[in-house]
Amino acid sequence: MNNYKITLLKGDGIGPEIVNQAVKVLDKAAEKFDFTVTYDEALLGGCAIDATGVPLPEETVAKCKASDSVLLGAVGGPKWDNQPGNNRPEAGLLGIRGALGLFANLRPSVIFGPLKSASPIKDDIIGDNMDIMIVRELTGGIYFGERGRKEVGGQPAAWDTEQYTVPEIERIARVAFDLAMKRDKRVTSVDKANVLESSRLWRETVIRVSRDYPEVTLNHMYVDNCAMQLVRNPKQFDVIVTSNIFGDILSDEASMIAGSIGMLASASLSGGKLGLYEPIHGSAPDIAGQNIANPLATILSVAMMLRYSLGQSEAAEAIEAAVSEVLKTNRTPDIYEEGMTKVTCEEMGDLVCAQL
Ligand code: IPM
Ligand code: MG
Repeated sequence: MNNYKITLLKGDGIGPEIVNQAVKVLDKAAEKFDFTVTYDEALLGGCAIDATGVPLPEETVAKCKASDSVLLGAVGGPKWDNQPGNNRPEAGLLGIRGALGLFANLRPSVIFGPLKSASPIKDDIIGDNMDIMIVRELTGGIYFGERGRKEVGGQPAAWDTEQYTVPEIERIARVAFDLAMKRDKRVTSVDKANVLESSRLWRETVIRVSRDYPEVTLNHMYVDNCAMQLVRNPKQFDVIVTSNIFGDILSDEASMIAGSIGMLASASLSGGKLGLYEPIHGSAPDIAGQNIANPLATILSVAMMLRYSLGQSEAAEAIEAAVSEVLKTNRTPDIYEEGMTKVTCEEMGDLVCAQL
């Protein structure tokens, strides 16, 4: 029987409560699909700062590297707002992405049938099967570029740098084209090539990589236009590939089109087996510890882990189907609609397990 070693990075805020529900669902899937899971926990983010002084202790990196996959809750909160920039919880998150070489971030934006009315976008615009895969470059660009403070004309100023190398663009483009081959064979590359030199290199490189994928239709879109097109006609998109910062912004927008940021999962991949899986939402410190957070994005992140890292796609599909079924009548407060049963974070986890 296959056994998988999973490192849990529960993090801060609602992180621990949502990860606990996802673990319950993973254990249930293991029982049903005949595999076993052993867990180890490690510190990341604010909780790591409290315990060790830094947001990403070396032990955490070592534990993650030694596991088959990593499940992350969320990091950050007002408690650590006064930390210097390079010691904030978020720096821990960027650090683990860099340390594990997780250059490809997959953020699917799909509408779960029963949640269609939760989307702020009109029914006929979303259609019945909106399914966008945002492929965000995750270990380069302005997030990892040099930055600093200086003086300009005697005034305090600050600067950040957006830089991409050709190999960085090539490998993320390949991830997008490979995914498109298994989907609707359409890739939209998003950049700001009318202004930024790094975007012009991005575009040239994506075009060159596209020659290896003659079956895939490639088009290019400026990021401002893409932000507009996502709400005007989201159905036009299949795979979107873009830089770190543009992907960060567009994936939040796409999540809301799908109904709630509390629903969307993500996978961060390194090209090898090891991946890190996390909901795209944050640590929601305002509702932490109240048992009202929506655990579905984390549960769906477990489904992505089963599919992309553990080779258990049947179990992944079963979890996604169970979530869809449970949503027909049960809702956490963030996606509550009249006539539904309002459930807690824990009850939602139990319902998905029961449905499985
Ligand atoms: C995300 C988050 C992070 C990011 C923050 C918390 C650093 O917004 O995963 O989208 O910007 O990458
Ligand atoms: Mg973000």
